[in-house]
Amino acid sequence: MSKTIVIGASGQIGSDLTLELRNRFGNDNVIASDIKNAADDVMSSGPFETLDVMDESGVAAVFKKHDISKVYLLAAMLSGSAEKNPKKAWDLNMKSLLSILDMAKEGLIKKVFWPSSIAVFGPTTPKQNTPQLTIMEPSTVYGISKLAGERWCEYYFNKYGVDVRGVRYPGLISYKTEAGGGTTDYAVEIFYEAIRAGKYECFLTEDTLLPMMFMPDAIRATIDLVEAPAEKVKIRSSYNLSGISFDPETLAAEIKKHIPDFSISYKPDFRQQIAESWPGSIDDSEARADWGWKHEYDLAKMTDIMLKEIKKKLS
Ligand code: SER
Repeated sequence: MSKTIVIGASGQIGSDLTLELRNRFGNDNVIASDIKNAADDVMSSGPFETLDVMDESGVAAVFKKHDISKVYLLAAMLSGSAEKNPKKAWDLNMKSLLSILDMAKEGLIKKVFWPSSIAVFGPTTPKQNTPQLTIMEPSTVYGISKLAGERWCEYYFNKYGVDVRGVRYPGLISYKTEAGGGTTDYAVEIFYEAIRAGKYECFLTEDTLLPMMFMPDAIRATIDLVEAPAEKVKIRSSYNLSGISFDPETLAAEIKKHIPDFSISYKPDFRQQIAESWPGSIDDSEARADWGWKHEYDLAKMTDIMLKEIKKKLS
């Protein structure tokens, strides 16, 4: 069986993705890798390689050692952190992608998944039901790197036949590994603080509407796209993907149904401006038509599971 590697397996998406891939394809067929150790269940359930994605020869050596054919490249710096360190973020987000695309072009690996983001959109993009093809003038370095990355993916597909696939993730909500450095992270932090302290100070205003998704949906979308027959994958830059849209006030009201004393206050910081430049909701009809995508979790279902699982984790 062909082997898969997840680069960035210690991150928010990588940890959940590695476990689900191991479930489906067998523990030994899915290599986890990251610059730092991953969650215990990722470390103990299958092979792990300590790897700096910027070390090209190290990456190539690991690909050869394990006879890797599929690569999920998840190592990246998110929007908030990237604004504090723009050049470093550009370097990490772009160089890692180009080096993996080159390895695919040379035939060392067969398939690449690379995540894009709603951050490819900007203040001039239509905000509601944002279409796949629209005005894209991102104002963050993270968004600029994602938009450039999308163009490179399509270029490598058209010019060299590289089988690269991607989705524009909305804000992702999960309980296994906490997010780090993103603008949508409030929607994860809020659950931890609701349980720990019964209150949360939000870094976005109450009416900041953003597209979001519960992690199991995101993982299913990712694997479905990668496993879809090539002829169904008509977009090689990155697919729009939509789950649930809500603002902090709506999420807080849903949490209050479970924790009646929960209170939220608002103290917007620099991330408010980033959030305001992004869409409120996404039109993902291409993903639905091309490879059969459909989200499953709504706000109520997600909130219920998040609170239950985080309570378990913290006790
Ligand atoms: N969730 C990411 C962020 O907030 C967007 O892709 O940076």
